[in-house]
Amino acid sequence: MKVCVVGTGYVGLTTGVSLAFLGHDVTCVDLDERKVEMLRAGRSPIYEPHMEALLGEASERLSFTTDYADGVPDADVVFIAVQTPSLPDGNPDLRYLSGAAETVGQHISGDFTVVVNKSTVPIGSSNWVDSILREAFERSHGRRADGEFTVASNPEFLREGVAIFDSLYPDRIVVGSDHPRGLDVLHQLYRAVLNQTFTPPSFLPRPGEVGAVPMVSTDLASAELIKYAANAFLATKISFINEVGRLAGKVGADVTQVARGIGLDARIGPRFLEPGVGWGGSCFGKDTAALITTAEEYHHDMPIVRAAREVNRQQRSVVVDQLLGELRILKGRKIGVLGLAFKPDTDDLRDSPSVDIARQLISRGARVTLHDPVAGERFRAEQPDLAGQLADSIDEVFDDADAVVLVTKWDQYLELDWGKFAGIMRKPVLLDGRHCLDAARLERLGYRYLTTAG
Ligand code: UDX
Repeated sequence: MKVCVVGTGYVGLTTGVSLAFLGHDVTCVDLDERKVEMLRAGRSPIYEPHMEALLGEASERLSFTTDYADGVPDADVVFIAVQTPSLPDGNPDLRYLSGAAETVGQHISGDFTVVVNKSTVPIGSSNWVDSILREAFERSHGRRADGEFTVASNPEFLREGVAIFDSLYPDRIVVGSDHPRGLDVLHQLYRAVLNQTFTPPSFLPRPGEVGAVPMVSTDLASAELIKYAANAFLATKISFINEVGRLAGKVGADVTQVARGIGLDARIGPRFLEPGVGWGGSCFGKDTAALITTAEEYHHDMPIVRAAREVNRQQRSVVVDQLLGELRILKGRKIGVLGLAFKPDTDDLRDSPSVDIARQLISRGARVTLHDPVAGERFRAEQPDLAGQLADSIDEVFDDADAVVLVTKWDQYLELDWGKFAGIMRKPVLLDGRHCLDAARLERLGYRYLTTAG
């Protein structure tokens, strides 16, 4: 099939590259010339494992352009995957989406085009996109748009850092359309993933347990709500274990054991029960805020989702409180922070707990030294006022420090020579913000070991 993807952010690029790998002819459109140049040269503008390898494998069926006219006409499917950042009131900013829909509408000229909203959009947006497309089409073509296209929703569930894996081996594919032909086209488009009939890339073999992938076909509004409900549920699950974690700290229980004990109940499941500094990233904060705002428009309250957000906000301050409790005074203390990205295997700093924690510590007068194996360059560009706090090496983070906080669970931090580092700290205080280190071992090495639970 001929596919056009508008927007080459995490979602658009992963979608385009994966669909080309699966055998479709894909044109990716992005207005950012620098990005398009990089992609043409086979380089990924984002740090995402396997992205460049898959770009290489799919290159024959993949092109990049800044011009909608190169991709939209004749496409069977057009994905709109532009950014929808949060506005201060919690609503997503839909300017890019409406601009993209307008231009797509002007260029549609195929037999029948399915225009897919891949961006996370407020419930009801597909109808709004439909009307923008319709108007733009009728203005530029001078005829009615009936039967020319339909709008579908195909929410994305990929996780940064494992985005390629998630798009080739998803738990499910959700498509929403009020038009049977829209559902049918998307079913054809994803057939190789649904039936797992493609030959896996050598660097991402198909896991043994992956069988046929279920497709959930719904109306438009349900597909849009599924995306928000999934992210709100996962966010709530993390906040739940963090709330339990704080109680665990008070009663002398071990929250990781509690998480294991409840997660083995098949009704609960073990994933997204890792306690610590809480969630960050581009989705959970934004989507929970948008869900609450949408609900308000219907005079509907969502107290559980509100509470999940509040617990997550507090979780970051818990780190500061723990350090204050231990060191008594933060002013003038040297505190090292390991990890800036909101999670490992990405250089994404959006809503990163680490940046928040660092800023809180600085506002309390602490001297902060920051480190990340990958996100340093991006951090310098995005947080220039903190760039001077970046350490060149891990040694610098520990050297003469009063405490070190592990915030991002990068593999290389798990394998540090902790014994050596205890020796160069002023006080060997370690706050494990991800509950991922061996407490007994660190205590044997002389550390005062703290977590977000106590
Ligand atoms: C998320 C959703 O998982 C994905 O389906 C959606 O489409 C986009 O948002 P992502 O933001 O890439 O993906 O990261 P994810 O792996 O979900 O982690 C989100 C945050 O939660 C990270 O900061 C992570 O460290 C934190 N987290 C995750 C926990 O604190 N505990 C956990 O048990 C799991």
